Amino acid sequence: MLVLGIESSCDETGVALYHTERGLIGNQLHTQMAMHAEYGGVVPELASRDHIRRLVPLTHACLKEAGQTFGDIDAVAFTQGPGLGGALLAGSGYANALAFALGKPVIPVHHLEGHLLSPLLAEDKPDFPFVALLVSGGHTQLMAVRGIGDYTLLGESVDDAAGEAFDKTAKLLGLPYPGGAKLSELAKLGRPDVYTFPRPMLHSHDLQMSFSGLKTAVLTAVQKAEAASENGSLSEQTRNDICRAFQDAVVDVLFAKAKQALIDTGFRTLVVAGGVGANWKLRESLAALSIKPAPKTKPEAVKVFFPPLPLCTDNGAMIAFAGAMHLQKSAQAGAFNVKPRWPLTDIVK
Ligand code: KG4
Ligand code: ZN
Repeated sequence: MLVLGIESSCDETGVALYHTERGLIGNQLHTQMAMHAEYGGVVPELASRDHIRRLVPLTHACLKEAGQTFGDIDAVAFTQGPGLGGALLAGSGYANALAFALGKPVIPVHHLEGHLLSPLLAEDKPDFPFVALLVSGGHTQLMAVRGIGDYTLLGESVDDAAGEAFDKTAKLLGLPYPGGAKLSELAKLGRPDVYTFPRPMLHSHDLQMSFSGLKTAVLTAVQKAEAASENGSLSEQTRNDICRAFQDAVVDVLFAKAKQALIDTGFRTLVVAGGVGANWKLRESLAALSIKPAPKTKPEAVKVFFPPLPLCTDNGAMIAFAGAMHLQKSAQAGAFNVKPRWPLTDIVK
């Protein structure tokens, strides 16, 4: 089965083709980053208009890349949400119109499900069950994943998402939008322990997280450093030291909460997904994660999986893949997919 995936939830237009036997055979992406950089953030109206402009040419490029035609497509999957309303409508309108014209089914996909299944697109893929650490620009969540469509929320950020904290802090430090990746590059040049920022909710005894207070701590440090400097501005070294301390704080919290989620669930596989999953420090720390279930026991190794770097941030491949998984699941369930116990409240999924 060949599924066309359409992603348009924010500032990336992604179109991909996933074949259930041959894997990912086409993957086209256009990022609007440069367009929004001028405004220091995503301008929703510009985003929607750009998706409309890109969807058709990207689909043609994707079919060409895969050596396929419209007639080969078995279903069209698209991001139904969450995201920017207008941007989602652009993708939804296109996907639904295309599916209707082709006489094929359309599969609405949850954007975060796309992210959390994206590590399954790697050559070395995780087995179920696993804990997923979803760290994107809009969400920071820990989920227990027992199979396709079987997700339990274990904990999440009560305010800013980790990616949002990276972007806001980067902006505060004068870095161009979107600053998350840039901040993490500068952190490599920062010295350890020059600054120490709080680790919010580290000892909250649950899997909730909070990142909004961190940027206030950074702001205070920046203001102090500026006041103390001769020319009233941050030196490059100080800025890099702050980047490092900020990144260390975020990564420490994500590490501790992910570890606790593994202990609580008893799972020994962790999957990291979403844009912040591209962060080198997070990858480095989690790669060394092990669990000591009780004081006198040996540490147990944890298998940690990351999506391939280009699939960490938004893309159509993860939507095509999630769509294909749902298509297969419903094909397997077939006529036997009845719901003997079906509360009315579950009618809208
Ligand atoms: O998953 P994603 O592409 O979009 C959403 O669904 O939100 O994630 C984008 C987020 C942005 O906040 C961006 O700054 C952050 O991921 N990001 C990073 C890095 N690369 C992207 N944050 C930290 N370190 C990075 N290397
Ligand atoms: Zn995303």
